[in-house]
Amino acid sequence: MSFEVENTGTVHFVGAGPGDAELITVKGARLLREADVVVYAGSLVDRELVRTYAPDAEVWDSAAMNLEETTRVLAQAVADGKRAVRLHTGDPSIYGAIQEQMAELDRLGIGYAVVPGVTSAFAAAAILKQELTLPEVSQTVIITRLAGRTPVPERESLAKIAQIGATLVIYLSVSMIERVVEELLQGAYTPETPAAVVAKASWPDEQVVEGTLADIAAKVKEAGIGKQALILVGDVLRARREGMKARSLLYDKGFSHEFRTGIVT
Ligand SMILES: C[S@@+](CC[C@H](N)C(=O)[O-])C[C@H]1O[C@@H](n2cnc3c(N)ncnc32)[C@H](O)[C@@H]1O
Repeated sequence: MSFEVENTGTVHFVGAGPGDAELITVKGARLLREADVVVYAGSLVDRELVRTYAPDAEVWDSAAMNLEETTRVLAQAVADGKRAVRLHTGDPSIYGAIQEQMAELDRLGIGYAVVPGVTSAFAAAAILKQELTLPEVSQTVIITRLAGRTPVPERESLAKIAQIGATLVIYLSVSMIERVVEELLQGAYTPETPAAVVAKASWPDEQVVEGTLADIAAKVKEAGIGKQALILVGDVLRARREGMKARSLLYDKGFSHEFRTGIVT
């Protein structure tokens, strides 16, 4: 099965991954290498990554551009028969503002495809060496944020989501960490609930701060973390310190499934 698509005539939205240039997908790297024009999110994607994979491309930093301008550059590239990549940090589908870009391309009759990337939540979990879904602790991961200039629907307020008690990965909110803690304490979490903040995950200057809801805000301030960071919260974070409550059945020797016969020895 091939996922190859013709590059010209199609804008590729590509997830660059969380920072480390080796965390882009093989397909994303190939599309960048083949690109004539790259529009990249300069506030979050390292220019070095673009230089590494697309040294000869015409490069635009979208940080200083509006939607009409990025669309114009991409549309012009396609009209000129050039290969165009729109490069986003992490995975484009998470807080990537790609829907409106795709709608503009639809309006202009320009084709596009999306190549996923490693979202920063998974880079943070990797750095922490932490599984986010542990048996008998939490089997649900919620990606969310506090409202900023972008509002969050009332039914998804952190205080409401906090009633579930699942593993949370909170984007775009570290500068408001006191409010995050305040809202989480209105739900299933307690001051003892473990929390971690990972800043610039997979970058050379990444930072990790760990604590509980009682002290994480102070620790984050002390570490000087003000942006490009994730807040992870939930009882799964206890496992490394306190051991696991239960093991997964998946590799249990008595558990059989389609690919393995369970033989208890
Ligand atoms: C506009 S959102 C983009 C998210 C991106 N699409 C993703 O999948 O990771 C930017 C936010 O993502 C998070 N973020 C992005 N890269 C990060 C990294 N390397 N380390 C920690 N957090 C990161 C931060 O919360 C930041 O404020």
